[in-house]
Amino acid sequence: QAGEPEVEVFSVPSYACQRRTSLENHNAPLTDALSLLAENAELNDEEGRGVAFRRAAALLKTLPSAVMSASQLRGLPCLGEHSLREILETGTSTEVESTKGSERFKALKVLTGIFGVGAKTADRWIREGIHDLHQLRASGQHYADINQPVTRAEADAIEAIVEKAVSSVLRGAQIVLTGGFRRGKPSGHDVDFLITHPEEGREEGLMPKVVSWLEKTTRNSYLESKDGPGRPPSNMDRFERCLSIFKLPGAAETPQRAWRAVRVDLVVSPISQFAFALLGWTGSKLFERELRRWAGHERGMSLSSHALYDNKQVNEGAASEEEIFAHLGLEFVPPSERNA
Ligand code: CTP
Ligand code: MN
Ligand code: MN
Ligand code: MN
Repeated sequence: QAGEPEVEVFSVPSYACQRRTSLENHNAPLTDALSLLAENAELNDEEGRGVAFRRAAALLKTLPSAVMSASQLRGLPCLGEHSLREILETGTSTEVESTKGSERFKALKVLTGIFGVGAKTADRWIREGIHDLHQLRASGQHYADINQPVTRAEADAIEAIVEKAVSSVLRGAQIVLTGGFRRGKPSGHDVDFLITHPEEGREEGLMPKVVSWLEKTTRNSYLESKDGPGRPPSNMDRFERCLSIFKLPGAAETPQRAWRAVRVDLVVSPISQFAFALLGWTGSKLFERELRRWAGHERGMSLSSHALYDNKQVNEGAASEEEIFAHLGLEFVPPSERNA
């Protein structure tokens, strides 16, 4: 054996949008532990702690090799959380272990896995003694259980159907696959699409038409809209958006069903905002959060899925994602490297 192995001290820029983060993760045991703590914090409405854990996990995901000792991380941002040190030293932490064993955490995870069920509803059910899907069914409520991940092949199949729907109701309209699949993920919790038309304004009113085409024309698959097709803008942004359950035939989860339920997110954007929408809907969520933090804190700008404003409230237009990164003074990060 050679002598002491050389220990690399890692040096990493602060913001996730300044870094490249591929799907290759050399620190999965650490990032899994931190993601679990993040998820638990988010489910318990502790947003600040959730973000801190997400940032620490993102930082470890970007490292070129496995961390062997805490000394390699000296001076790195986002790693202040004390349980991280414990995880580094022992491979886990008391908080990770107690969270994993917690009935409340397990129940929150199962219940919020149901389409349209958030932390608030899950919390209420738990207080009513409902901890799992059996108890939920027994209470007389019926929900589609769609926790099974969506594969790339299923995403491609859905893309072909949505593409047909979109071009049938409006000639020249285009769709792009966004979200995790655009970042190269092999599976996801849903399939995200952005829809536009090269002529400004032609995209108006497109969503209800797409949805009714899908309901009428596809014999075996149809949509169940949560927001209601074309319903005016919800909280997040001002695009026409439709959160749906797509019933994909021929891949039954259970013998009782001939279809498999898949979540599909449809968003319509005018072409003038398309680059911002594409950047905003490609993710990851942390990458997006960090882009907006960078824009605000480092550039005095304001970035959304619609536009970029500088500190004089001048709208910085952009025809491509590359232009938006340039406006922000950032090196371009391709989608496959936005897996922070
Ligand atoms: N998004 C958004 N507004 C929402 C929900 C999501 O802008 N109300 C954005 C997220 O910020 C993210 C993108 O849409 O950039 C995709 O979100 P989501 O589908 O939740 O995550 P994915 O990265 O696609 O992960 P998964 O594969 O699990 O779906
Ligand atoms: Mn590597
Ligand atoms: Mn997605
Ligand atoms: Mn989505």
